[in-house]
Amino acid sequence: MCGIIGCVGRPNETLETLIHGLSKLEYRGYDSAGVALAGRDGAVDIEKRAGKLENLRGALENVEIEGTVGIGHTRWSTHGPPTDRNAHPHPDCDGDVAVLHNGIIENFQTIRDELVASSHEFRSDTDTEVVPHLIEEALDDGATPEAAFREAISRIGGSYAIAAVFADTEAVFCARQDSPLVLGLNDDAYYLASDVPAFRDYTDTVVYMEDGEFARLDSNGWAVTDASGEPVEKDPHVVEWDAEETGKSGYDHYMLKEIHEQPRALRECLRGRVDELGDHVELEEFAGLAPPTSVQFVACGTSYHAALYGAQLFREAGVPAQAFLASEYRTSPPPIGSSLVIGVTQSGETADTLSALREASRRGAQTLAVTNVIGSSAARECDHALYIRAGPEIGVAASKTFASQLAALNVLALATTRSAESRKAIGALRDLPGAVQAVLDDSTSESVAGEYIDADAYFFIGRGYQYPTALEGALKMKEITYKHAEGFAAGELKHGPLALVTQRTPVIAIAVGDDEAAKKTVGNIKEVEARNAPVIAVTDGRSGVERYADHTLPVPESHPRTAAVTASVQLQLLAYHSAAQLGRSIDKPRNLAKSVTVE
Ligand code: F6R
Repeated sequence: MCGIIGCVGRPNETLETLIHGLSKLEYRGYDSAGVALAGRDGAVDIEKRAGKLENLRGALENVEIEGTVGIGHTRWSTHGPPTDRNAHPHPDCDGDVAVLHNGIIENFQTIRDELVASSHEFRSDTDTEVVPHLIEEALDDGATPEAAFREAISRIGGSYAIAAVFADTEAVFCARQDSPLVLGLNDDAYYLASDVPAFRDYTDTVVYMEDGEFARLDSNGWAVTDASGEPVEKDPHVVEWDAEETGKSGYDHYMLKEIHEQPRALRECLRGRVDELGDHVELEEFAGLAPPTSVQFVACGTSYHAALYGAQLFREAGVPAQAFLASEYRTSPPPIGSSLVIGVTQSGETADTLSALREASRRGAQTLAVTNVIGSSAARECDHALYIRAGPEIGVAASKTFASQLAALNVLALATTRSAESRKAIGALRDLPGAVQAVLDDSTSESVAGEYIDADAYFFIGRGYQYPTALEGALKMKEITYKHAEGFAAGELKHGPLALVTQRTPVIAIAVGDDEAAKKTVGNIKEVEARNAPVIAVTDGRSGVERYADHTLPVPESHPRTAAVTASVQLQLLAYHSAAQLGRSIDKPRNLAKSVTVE
């Protein structure tokens, strides 16, 4: 969702630091951007623009904007369309305060009505704008800036990572509830952000804020307090990845770079967990965890596809398991019994997933987060955390985190159950980084994409482990090409969707191995072929599907579980090259955001 950056202690480079931070955060939200600078000169200067960060940069060339401390924001609209006036930060009536926010203030309408009745002038449609006006009320009553900020926060309900600057005050104030906020520390400067990449070029030392906490950053240092103002002891952490990992390293897009990083990401995920030589899988962090008697997964989007795959892994090991869309889990909770509830969430901050995990916890379940982000809300709130170790993912469409989720779920299922499949599966996992590299080296997806660039729609089909792969292939395609794409269980085509199949709807079929699932998929491909639809087969050559396919995207022979990863890489490349040929905004597709922190 929205990206936030704040900085104190770089008096001659405040604006530059904020803009640099926003450029690293644009993937979180990119329908408008703004900055507010404050400090010694007695004023708060705000500049904000609808559209991408470039528009703000352009506007800043024509205005003088100064300050020794500042805050900046990239927005993903919730309340009010993406316009200049709805862009953050928002001032109070007198322009002495500027506030920005990520999240949703649920009681904003009641507060706004009260404030309008006492003559406050609102200039935006946002929920956020109530906060500067609440602060203004408290300042008028004689409160200090810090007290006024606290007073305003005590009035709002909902989710927020929120930050404010004040005229004549060389400090930044912030608070968090159900929305990520992290502080960055170095010797003479302090930062706050929704996400570490925003300040990673300046420091690797971070402090993760918890719900209900407030922080004050000024040139003398930083302090975190609880809602009653009591100091909270925080342990700084050092982030392990370097700033280069958040650059494009010569690739045209972050997504392409991240697709190509998959062999390395997978090696990291498996390091120390899969025995290099033997048939052994180990998860030190779960040494004391009793084997689950049943498992419920909760997740959204791409992570939900990983969850569907994870549930199948556990079922194959004889453990009842089911995947739920996190957004539905709370609305219609399943009986929980003694299930282990696993939240799969790359960011660890997805509001729907957090809320499902909290519901499970409330009902007495043990919870486990499978996540990429150390210190994320999911990691901190769950009883256990399994890190997928994919490194930072900047492209909005998930790629390497999906592959690493599948690998981590394999390790988890193998380590916590006694699967008859263990031996072969462990060997295949060990070979997986190399198999993915082979796909990357030889993929013909670019030319195949070119053949079907005018297609009306794309259908993806697969069975068993390849069913989530098909769903994920379709999601990638629709997200970044804006073309209609659907994933189906291969056996379902004939129960309805076949009516949509024409010469202008390529069917991408995943038929790997020569097992029952692959053979049946080939049968479904024949149904499609008979209706003159072009067929693109993702295959390792063992199912004989080539005979019915117009094009093939090969993957190395492997276990069906790991073939889901190699096949996904082909589908990521197919979506990427289709989007590139259509000239789409691949890293920041329309209407999407990287971390969805509202329900
Ligand atoms: C799609 C994508 C989204 C996320 C979903 C959940 O490419 O990235 O569908 O998978 O928003 O996000 P996380 O995994 O952060 O919970």
